[in-house]
Amino acid sequence: MTLPNTPPHKWQFVATALAERDRTHRRRTLSVLMPVDAIHVRKGTGDRLLINFSANDYLGLSKHPQVIAQAIDYTQRYGTGATASRLVAGSFDIHRNLEHQLAQALGTEAALLFGTGFQANATVLPVLLDKDALVLCDRLVHNSLLQGIRASGARFVRYAHNDLNALEFQLQKHQNKTYSRVMIVSETVFSMDGDRSDVPALVELSDRYGAILYLDDAHAFGVLGPEGMGLAANMPGVDIIVGTFGKACGASGAFVACSEAVRDHLINFCAGVIYTTALSPGVVGAVEAAIVLFPSLEAERQHLLGESEWLRLQLNQLNYSTAGSASQIVPAIVGPEDKTLALAAWLETQGCLATAIRPPTVATGTSRIRLALSCQHGRSHLTQLVTAIEVWDYPSGSTGLN
Ligand SMILES: Cc1ncc(COP(=O)(O)O)c(C=O)c1O
Repeated sequence: MTLPNTPPHKWQFVATALAERDRTHRRRTLSVLMPVDAIHVRKGTGDRLLINFSANDYLGLSKHPQVIAQAIDYTQRYGTGATASRLVAGSFDIHRNLEHQLAQALGTEAALLFGTGFQANATVLPVLLDKDALVLCDRLVHNSLLQGIRASGARFVRYAHNDLNALEFQLQKHQNKTYSRVMIVSETVFSMDGDRSDVPALVELSDRYGAILYLDDAHAFGVLGPEGMGLAANMPGVDIIVGTFGKACGASGAFVACSEAVRDHLINFCAGVIYTTALSPGVVGAVEAAIVLFPSLEAERQHLLGESEWLRLQLNQLNYSTAGSASQIVPAIVGPEDKTLALAAWLETQGCLATAIRPPTVATGTSRIRLALSCQHGRSHLTQLVTAIEVWDYPSGSTGLN
């Protein structure tokens, strides 16, 4: 074998990968935004005001005076950072109080805080699974869940999206095999389609087949369920609930709600708990205030869900599929990447920030504008958006990839 005289430049792989992203209209870039209020941002160096239809601040709490005040109060009393991991010297009374508050609201024995939802899913699943386990997971689950499952080395089957017959078929098929354990993994509200899973049916199946039920409630927490506590709350058959504070709480961070025994297990074995700095006091304060507010925001939730329904009807009338959306997340499926980017760019000229979501985040051919509503969006904001979509004129013959 002869070696080439000039080996490829050591960073050639970066240029090659990015060029491929350009070619397929899948290159991702960061835009600089300046938040103004819960639903407006200014973009770039200019001062163009845009209505934000792409944030997950579903209840507008990132700008709520009580949430901000408690973040400031805890920062002043406890400092800007927790200064250590929970296990070393970073576990304060406010962390423990928030965990108790969560467990009580969700009807679980215990809860444990995490730095982010991504970190929770990516590091908890490898602790609860091993290479002899079987995981049955909805085809559309979030990347963080896939990361955790893959890292565990468990046998892994993705069942058709929200298809409980397909799930049961897999449970039956694997029933007589000797796995260390079987786990069902799903979301309650799917992040890109905005549809819901049937939580009681998942509980029934997991009970019947003795499987562990792990549900990611990130997009329902604060928005759906009694007192806004999510779709997995107070459901005894749900073994593990993951929720994030970066969405309806308007902050950042996450929790795992589970039994005391599982909490202890995670404290002992989960790298995402052990080897990381505890949540900052300001974040803990904001989250605590947000969760106290949740029960009082029923009218806001009704408004949010009502406007989401209205938006779906308008988009369907304009011949956009909204997939199975049944929540505040309303996708307008466009199809090709370039066409979706063109629509997002057009909407920006019309005063609407509505980001294009493309593969590999969603399946090829289903690029979309993912609209995520806030209770602070009113009919006039939505009308501005729908009108802009309606009058958009995409040159014929330019759909599809080059
Ligand atoms: C379903 C789901 N789980 C987890 C996450 C990650 O949460 P976080 O933003 O707190 O890392 C997200 C958000 O991106 C999500 O949509």
